[in-house]
Amino acid sequence: MIVQPNRDSIQAASNALLAGQLVVLPTETVYGLAADIRNETAIASIFRLKGRPNDNPLIVHLHDQSQAKFVARELPDRFFQLAERFWPGPLSIVLPKHRVLSKSITAGGETVAIRIPDHPVTLGVMSSANLMLAMPSANPFMSLSPTRADLVSHEIESGVWGILDGGASKVGIESTVLDLSDQQPSILRVGIVSRQEIEDCLSEYIQTGGDSTKSPGQYRRHYAPRTKAVLVTEFSQNAHGISFSEPKTDHIILAGHDPHEYAKNLYAALAELDTLGVEVIEILCPPETEEWAPIWDRITKAATPL
Ligand code: TXA
Ligand code: MG
Repeated sequence: MIVQPNRDSIQAASNALLAGQLVVLPTETVYGLAADIRNETAIASIFRLKGRPNDNPLIVHLHDQSQAKFVARELPDRFFQLAERFWPGPLSIVLPKHRVLSKSITAGGETVAIRIPDHPVTLGVMSSANLMLAMPSANPFMSLSPTRADLVSHEIESGVWGILDGGASKVGIESTVLDLSDQQPSILRVGIVSRQEIEDCLSEYIQTGGDSTKSPGQYRRHYAPRTKAVLVTEFSQNAHGISFSEPKTDHIILAGHDPHEYAKNLYAALAELDTLGVEVIEILCPPETEEWAPIWDRITKAATPL
């Protein structure tokens, strides 16, 4: 059930979470499938409903920076610099976990990823009961992340209290994941907060890619439509697909001229093309520059065969 947000429904969603139910909530990146971090049964339901492997940890969402000390063991200077600069916003920070935080959230690991999402509805749900929420993207494992309430699948919808409708996500792809649990900070998942911006904030070199054992969520195929998707340097005749420049034919969706605009529209465009029953979705290769790196990451994963 899609629920319009107002004072009563925000309170009701908060109560449902306190009672151990799951709720789909809007964020600026993608919609999330939320559970109260203190409720083991609810956390287990997240993994079950998504069909997500148990070795893939969940991000803990806060509504206030001061909550970080309850889930992370140490908060280094770098943490405060980044939180001041990017929160609320699309940056998840990995830190050594606090001993009280359940290992079902961290997939048995000793670190936890945390962020404050930039969406008033979800911040309202959390702050009304001082909640902290485990919240993966609200898609079945491997599928496209929903960027609007109506793009949440029926499978997910059937297992939750409701979907709070917060409009279209303004960022459109998942947060950047930055690991601060080692000496050397490294980006585990690229996103709209770029390496350059993180380097400028911390005044130091940041690695990308890091240790792949540290980012269990980096599957080769991910964020994928059901229809086969391919990357092309030129559209075929009568192609259905996605472009970053003015389309010359019908059936091509212009996702955006720049990577931010493109990110915002990418998943909805793939979802729309996925409903057409076409044989293949063609994605025109964008420029090979660093600012397009998060787009390259997502379209490559969408185009990896099963
Ligand atoms: O933008 C987002 O981050 C969205 C919204 C809802 O906040 N959430 C999201 O969660 O994308 P999810 O579960 O779909 O992706 C979380 C990613 C996975 O790749 C996971 O492996 C990684 O973050 N991650 C979570 N905790 C981690 C940890 N302790 N160490 C390393 N990677 C971690
Ligand atoms: Mg996800």
